Amino acid sequence: MYGASRYISLAQLNQACLTITARRLFSTTPRPKSNQTPQDGEEKFLTHHVMDLFSLRGRTIAITGGAQGIGLALAFAAAEAGAQVAILDAASKPHDNYNRLKKIARSRYYQADVTDYNGLEQTFERIKEDFGGIHGCITAAGICPDQPFLERPWQEVKRCFDINVLGTFYTAQLAARHMVRNKSQAIESDATSSIVMIGSVAAHRASAGQYISDYCSSKGAVLSLVKELGVELAEQRIRVNCISPGYIRTDLMFDIAKHRPKLAAILQSEPPMKRMGDRLDLKAAAVYLLSEGSAYMTGGEILITGGLHAGRIN
Ligand SMILES: NC(=O)c1ccc[n+]([C@@H]2O[C@H](COP(=O)([O-])OP(=O)(O)OC[C@H]3O[C@@H](n4cnc5c(N)ncnc54)[C@H](O)[C@@H]3O)[C@@H](O)[C@H]2O)c1
Repeated sequence: MYGASRYISLAQLNQACLTITARRLFSTTPRPKSNQTPQDGEEKFLTHHVMDLFSLRGRTIAITGGAQGIGLALAFAAAEAGAQVAILDAASKPHDNYNRLKKIARSRYYQADVTDYNGLEQTFERIKEDFGGIHGCITAAGICPDQPFLERPWQEVKRCFDINVLGTFYTAQLAARHMVRNKSQAIESDATSSIVMIGSVAAHRASAGQYISDYCSSKGAVLSLVKELGVELAEQRIRVNCISPGYIRTDLMFDIAKHRPKLAAILQSEPPMKRMGDRLDLKAAAVYLLSEGSAYMTGGEILITGGLHAGRIN
């Protein structure tokens, strides 16, 4: 049993706060000059330039699904912000643009299937050996099968969940274990590690002209995982957030549009901004979430959809 003496009254609390405030206001101890690191609770916004907050210098970012599409574009974003980049993908080789990435930053391509846990674990060990640690991770590997619900073969539904849900789960778990192990080698003592999952607007609403029941539900699972891990890993100083794009111009969308002739027009007209998204539209958000610019954000989602998620007037 706790005795009443263990609690302080509201009046005592008020008094304590007043005393601390008065000590701060009238203290004779010199306050830090602008080029000194301020103590907790002091005016950090005066001493940290906003552009520095976005820097990924000295960090290694692992990106699944980075052979092409959104993953490759976000690899460029991380590299341009100063990171070293490790790309993991099931494809035997990356898109030709990978050669341009190599000129910007130290990077390496690893052929790895995110559904193969043991293989993925070995790949993460190799990344650790090659780069010395993992400070950030983007999970962009994914597929989007398009077929009416009543016709979906269970084997293909399982494959979609294996890649989009379990692949994301395995990747996040392996990355987080490395981040915990690496804490002693942190870039800055108070820096956070960051996992950015690629969700989808499909977790929130059905998409006109598409039949993607297993995809929608798999992205709903990713969004739930973001919230759970955001909470569960917060004490380890690992932040977990997601970017949920709308319709972005990549092979994944073009493959669906190939067998649905009316879809191309829908993809342009359905978003309130009346255009498809470009991979460029996602780059800044990825750097924000990977960097200390988002140091107090976890368990969150950035929807980049041209307004698609919000609804429509006509
Ligand atoms: N393009 C869009 O409009 C859009 C919208 C919302 C969300 N997304 C999501 O963005 C992510 C990337 O999509 P994209 O448009 O760049 O597609 P994409 O097909 O261009 O690229 C996906 C990449 O994932 C890789 N991949 C697939 N299965 C894999 C596996 N088992 N192991 C490792 N790698 C694997 C592919 O080889 C490919 O390089 C996906 O998760 C997708 O669901 C895309």
